[in-house]
Amino acid sequence: MSESSNRRILVLNGPNLNLLGTREPGIYGSETLEDVRVLCENTAAAAGFDVEFLQSNHEGVLIDAIHAARGNVAGIVFNPGAYTHTSIALADAIAGVELPVIEVHISNVHKREAFRHHSYISPVAASIIVGAGVNGYALGVQQLIHLGTRG
Ligand code: DQA
Repeated sequence: MSESSNRRILVLNGPNLNLLGTREPGIYGSETLEDVRVLCENTAAAAGFDVEFLQSNHEGVLIDAIHAARGNVAGIVFNPGAYTHTSIALADAIAGVELPVIEVHISNVHKREAFRHHSYISPVAASIIVGAGVNGYALGVQQLIHLGTRG
């Protein structure tokens, strides 16, 4: 991993997160995905890190992004959306690239329907941030930087 990839973070977003701001605002709030991007960039920049920011509604695109991240970033802040609860393929991709992944959910999934209580991603995540609203992304970026810079 080069010096520059050490100081880059991938923030990855799964299906329907492009609708943030208008999608069920009572659950996900009124901030848009663009607001989240700016929040992540500012949080990372404060520690001298850059952010690569991506959203896709397609599982294969997310898998490709995880593969491409290997050797190019220090780790991934990942909100897999509903794929959290269904995707063995995303969990395998994360296990395969051996990058630290911080799993983020805007809502507190444990307060919601039972099918949201199980995550295929959690067993391969370094840390999990749930129910902190979009600030969870900022916490995720900070946690990733913490993992990468601790003694
Ligand atoms: C989510 C929670 C998931 O259950 C849901 O399918 C989402 C968003 C969250 O950020 O709270 O799309 O990951």
